[in-house]
Amino acid sequence: MVRETRISKDALIYPMFVVEDGVLAEGLEREEIRTMPGQYRYTLAALRPAVEQLMTAGIRAIMLFGIPAHKDACGSQADDENGIVQRALRLLRSEFSHLYLITDVCMCEYTSHGHCGILNGQQVDNDETLNRLAQIAVSHARAGADMVAPSDMMDGRIRAIREALDAAGFTGLPIMSYAVKYASAFYGPFRDAADSAPAFGDRRGYQMDYHNSREAVKEALLDADEGADILMVKPAVSYLDIVTRVKEQTNLPLAAYSVSGEYAMIKSAAALGYCDEEALIAETTVAAFRAGADLYISYYAPEIARLMDSGRIG
Ligand code: PBG
Repeated sequence: MVRETRISKDALIYPMFVVEDGVLAEGLEREEIRTMPGQYRYTLAALRPAVEQLMTAGIRAIMLFGIPAHKDACGSQADDENGIVQRALRLLRSEFSHLYLITDVCMCEYTSHGHCGILNGQQVDNDETLNRLAQIAVSHARAGADMVAPSDMMDGRIRAIREALDAAGFTGLPIMSYAVKYASAFYGPFRDAADSAPAFGDRRGYQMDYHNSREAVKEALLDADEGADILMVKPAVSYLDIVTRVKEQTNLPLAAYSVSGEYAMIKSAAALGYCDEEALIAETTVAAFRAGADLYISYYAPEIARLMDSGRIG
């Protein structure tokens, strides 16, 4: 009766990886991600039944990541009308009228060098990249996305994307900004899933330093000012102080992203018999909402929904 934190399935978002033909070995319709047991890379053919199951569990929002068969220096597949995410969007849009489709807007899954933008020498060129990101967001909107979620961390991208969406007629399409995204080792398994590890260097030039929290507020306020509709803090588990701090300083809805490494930690500890998986899922999920998250992006979303049904999360 007196619980302060209650969770709704409507607040859950499930990330999914969709691969172009030619990425998986021949004959495979889906492939389990080595470092994320229980999570898969789906071909278009396998996507539909997976989403059906998800919706049966009560999850109605997904975030799509695309993995193309061909990568190049400027990530040209990222805004191709027939790119993998665009095709997945058209397919899901026509099959599921009540599914909320969010897309990750970034270049690292599409570039041969694995960085999140256009390179100038060994550096990512922030301003050159803005235009590409805007084109990618518009192409997702055209293919049926309900919301775009830029994760690249270039400065000024929310304004660039907002202006491009408006100019293309998508004035009502919201942007969920990965506003506060730390350079984190917790993204390791994701880079396996998306084949997106940088070929050289790291992402510390554009992602945030985990020693900083005032900078999180600065980034959040900048993105709010540029037109973000939802802000995100990422990762979740080691950054709940940041969730609380950003929540106190802004009035936008706030999402927390429990990333691949958080999933992998719980999965592997459970597989070894060291911890109780369901108890950890419940505790980490409730903690994110208690800290101030309004939305929770998690690879455990279907399990969280099941734990809610059985009363383990209330
Ligand atoms: C793309 C992107 C990443 C994640 C989400 N979008 C990887 C990265 O920045 O290296 C990580 C998600 C996860 O680890 O679950 N830039």
